[in-house]
Amino acid sequence: MVSLALFALLVTAAVNLSLGQGVKFVIDSGFIAGSKEQLSSAILMLIGLISLLAVGTFSRFYLMSWLGERVSADLRKAVFNRIVTLHPSYFEENRSGELMSRLTTDTALLQSIIGSSFSMALRSMLMLIGGLIMLLITSLKLTLVVICCVPVILVPMIIYGRKVRLLAASSQDAIADIGTYAGEIIQNIKVVQSYTYENLEREAFAGEVEKAFKVAKRRIKQRSLLIAVVIFLTFGAISGMLWMGGMDVLAGKMTGGELGAFVFYAIMVAMSVATVAEVYGELQRAAGSATRLLALLEIESEITELSSPRLMAKDKMTVIEFEQVNFSYPSRPDSLALNNINLVIPTGKIVALVGPSGAGKTTLFELLQRFYDPQQGKVKFNGINITELKLIDLRDAMGMVPQHAILFSSDVWHNIRYGKQEASDEEVIAAAKRAHAHEFIEQLPQGYGSFLGEQGVRLSGGQKQRIALARAILKDPEVLLLDEATSALDAQSEYHVQAALNELMANRTTLIIAHRLATVVDADLIVVMDQGGVVDTGDHQSLLKSSKLYQRLCELQFDKAADQR
Ligand SMILES: Nc1ncnc2c1ncn2[C@@H]1O[C@H](COP(=O)(O)OP(=O)(O)O)[C@@H](O)[C@H]1O
Ligand SMILES: [Mg+2]
Repeated sequence: MVSLALFALLVTAAVNLSLGQGVKFVIDSGFIAGSKEQLSSAILMLIGLISLLAVGTFSRFYLMSWLGERVSADLRKAVFNRIVTLHPSYFEENRSGELMSRLTTDTALLQSIIGSSFSMALRSMLMLIGGLIMLLITSLKLTLVVICCVPVILVPMIIYGRKVRLLAASSQDAIADIGTYAGEIIQNIKVVQSYTYENLEREAFAGEVEKAFKVAKRRIKQRSLLIAVVIFLTFGAISGMLWMGGMDVLAGKMTGGELGAFVFYAIMVAMSVATVAEVYGELQRAAGSATRLLALLEIESEITELSSPRLMAKDKMTVIEFEQVNFSYPSRPDSLALNNINLVIPTGKIVALVGPSGAGKTTLFELLQRFYDPQQGKVKFNGINITELKLIDLRDAMGMVPQHAILFSSDVWHNIRYGKQEASDEEVIAAAKRAHAHEFIEQLPQGYGSFLGEQGVRLSGGQKQRIALARAILKDPEVLLLDEATSALDAQSEYHVQAALNELMANRTTLIIAHRLATVVDADLIVVMDQGGVVDTGDHQSLLKSSKLYQRLCELQFDKAADQR
């Protein structure tokens, strides 16, 4: 496609240049010689050239625009492919808004620049060179005049052009500010209205808009001035040239056709120079975008795999071990989120993690799924350090129901099927039934085809939680990770979900982070955590006797339960 586009570019440039010869021919052979036949054939030739130009221009425009669109489409895919594999801590350091703008704005800029500005620059360069050669062939003296005029026109263009560009950039920033402001207000519209802040927000927003308008006004003033100056200088120079050339024609040193062709080429050269100068700034902007995109494409995930990872023993039941694990989050390197954790999670058992908020329970799950690697110690799965396993195998073996159910803005089918892509409709429905979600799904306007809204806003917390559970049930993993999975439920749905969970947990290694006593009491092993460390382990009865922290947690639970009654 690139070579086709270049070919079309060359053809159109050549035709454009030969048009000048056509002009010369029409004037000299037609008008001056006074021959009707010659004029007709000259015009026919001109029409032929113009047809060729039309076809060439179509191909050039189509092919270059195609290339621009293709490059940006490929870049979008490449950037997204890279982003989805990056380690989660990358997204703590880089704001999602900024990544989005890489994916949309930067790629769109490249698309428009490759599709139009770059193509314009290439074409203008060709025309500039070709035009200058033709000028030299036509008249050396007048060419020297043109070459002297070029800097006179170019200097104000470059000076003003820079000013305009700077203003254009700040204009863009001002518009981005407008977008950010409006976005925040729209997202928090209920808070705005509930505090009756509409009028104040209106004024503040109007301020942002007017600020952008002021910047834009300065920009368009500079730009209008630039255009006026350039037009004046260009046509002034052409008039001067016409005068000199006209004198030569009158003196018989030059034909009228030659002068006509000369003016044609001079205008072509002037326009080409103007175009190159104008798109130069945009090409620089594109270079900036391209650099940022390429930098993003070069980032490697910090969660690395061995080149030949070890196979997971399928026949063995799953044992999980933490060996002297120390871990701090990359964004908080000074505080240990996990402090010397030693823990064995036996096969097919239910292990409950309890402890105050911030104890490191969720962090333990994150390490197990290798969203982060510990700075010290090992996490083992069936005796193999998880860093030696294939990442897909490791994560396929685990089913996670997070603290806040994560739903995608799609229908119920898609959201449950996230657990197992190839599941049939019947399997999805069976999973929903086991998660006690089938009933309420049936009552949604379009049943399983109902759209759930962004992040599932059209469902209650308990309903979202049950869809997330159905997803994990469908996945049918060896190890189940439940992060306070019943926390968002009311008493009735908790009863339903608990029933579903009991069925799900049977004969499966289950790690459950729980506040509710019901889950904890039945667990085979309870791990009491505090401030990143394991404080006590045991079952409910023994911990009641031996662990101060566990006693306190239980008391709080009972008190709260009593309060709720
Ligand atoms: N992404 C993160 N970056 C930095 N610190 C974090 C991050 N996530 C959690 N923490 C911190 O790590 C500690 C343990 O958190 P967490 O494992 O979520 O506790 P919990 O036991 O309540 O689940 C807390 O002090 C928390 O502030
Ligand atoms: Mg937590």
